[in-house]
Amino acid sequence: MNNAERADPTTHFDVEAVRQDFPILHQQVNGHPLVYLDNAATTQKPRAVIDAISDYYLYDNSNVHRGAHALAERATAKFEGARETVAQFLNAPGREQILWTRGTTESVNLVAHSWGRTELKPGDRILVSAMEHHSNIVPWQMIAEATGARVEAIPVDKTGTLDMEAFESKLKEGRVRMVSVGHVSNALGTVNPIEQIIQAAHEAGALVMIDGAQAVSHWPVDVQALDCDFYAFSAHKLFGPTGIGVLYGRRELLEAMPPYQGGGEMIQHVSFEGTSFGPLPYKFEAGTPDIAGAIGLAAAIDYVNGLDRAAAVAYERVLLAYAEEKAQATEGVTLVGTAAHKVSVLSFLVEGTHPNDLGFLLDQQGVAVRTGNHCAEPIMEQYGIPGTVRASFSFYNTFDEVDRLFEALDKARQFF
Ligand code: ALA
Repeated sequence: MNNAERADPTTHFDVEAVRQDFPILHQQVNGHPLVYLDNAATTQKPRAVIDAISDYYLYDNSNVHRGAHALAERATAKFEGARETVAQFLNAPGREQILWTRGTTESVNLVAHSWGRTELKPGDRILVSAMEHHSNIVPWQMIAEATGARVEAIPVDKTGTLDMEAFESKLKEGRVRMVSVGHVSNALGTVNPIEQIIQAAHEAGALVMIDGAQAVSHWPVDVQALDCDFYAFSAHKLFGPTGIGVLYGRRELLEAMPPYQGGGEMIQHVSFEGTSFGPLPYKFEAGTPDIAGAIGLAAAIDYVNGLDRAAAVAYERVLLAYAEEKAQATEGVTLVGTAAHKVSVLSFLVEGTHPNDLGFLLDQQGVAVRTGNHCAEPIMEQYGIPGTVRASFSFYNTFDEVDRLFEALDKARQFF
């Protein structure tokens, strides 16, 4: 059976056509056709994104906002147009609520340090989940240490599901100022019930920051419908370039927050007697920004918007179900992360093997996965494991590639 025949016919997703948009997928690695299953680490880039970045450098390169010439005007129009594209993508009420950062990590740091520095008092509490990526733990620990606040983990059960009862009890204990959770766990694939989390946190008087790094490539996000206070994501996990990301924030919060970094672009007036800061979003954007990155991200969003997203979501779901079925039918394979609501992440262990050794042997057969603790040491420690092998799928992966993963696993096991 070929890929098209195996795909759920209700998904109507033409994966072979989509694969043509991604030049990198069509190559041999270690003498085998590449099977790229490391999409949670970074997604591949469609030609449209690569072209948008190269066109900018070929024809429009200039600094933004300040130039008195045609190139500067074109660069500024594209750069600010990209901000508008992101605002529409997230359904943000205004483009000035979209801040460029270097990625999700910098977005969390920005909120932790700017909001946290002025708002947190000794004894205040910050809740994160026990399955967070380090980038949604460490910035909070740093600001907690500086302010006397404390970071606490919302427990997660053995399937990788957040304990909502424990969360609600923690809220009832009082003084929770911020709840910062991942929309989707990078290590386990769990989709957290963020609507419920946001509502409960708000009722308890806490703000909510959502780390959307692993979510935006899978489905559309609406920050107004979610009613979150902050939402962050990275371009490179959404088929865009590395080095740029986004922080969405509620307007009144961003307006009240002090700048995160000082420099050019973010000021209104500078003198040695004192400096006043620019309006949103520029107050948070010191220095020359990643102009090409913003343009590349907008091209990635245009690309994604051009797909039938509902069909892509449905396709990824059947692909994950197929991979999980194969994993369950393979002796000695244990899935890590079996929450009821998951995205297309297959984290697993194989009896008698170390994840890193398996990763190497899979790579020798052209299969790219990630191994290790996935920057989520606390949840790995809770499970008493050093890490996992993680295959993470995107809509351009195929059923044949899932077969290749399991064939490669079988061969790899013969070495042990
Ligand atoms: N956070 C990225 C991952 O999960 C790098 O692989």
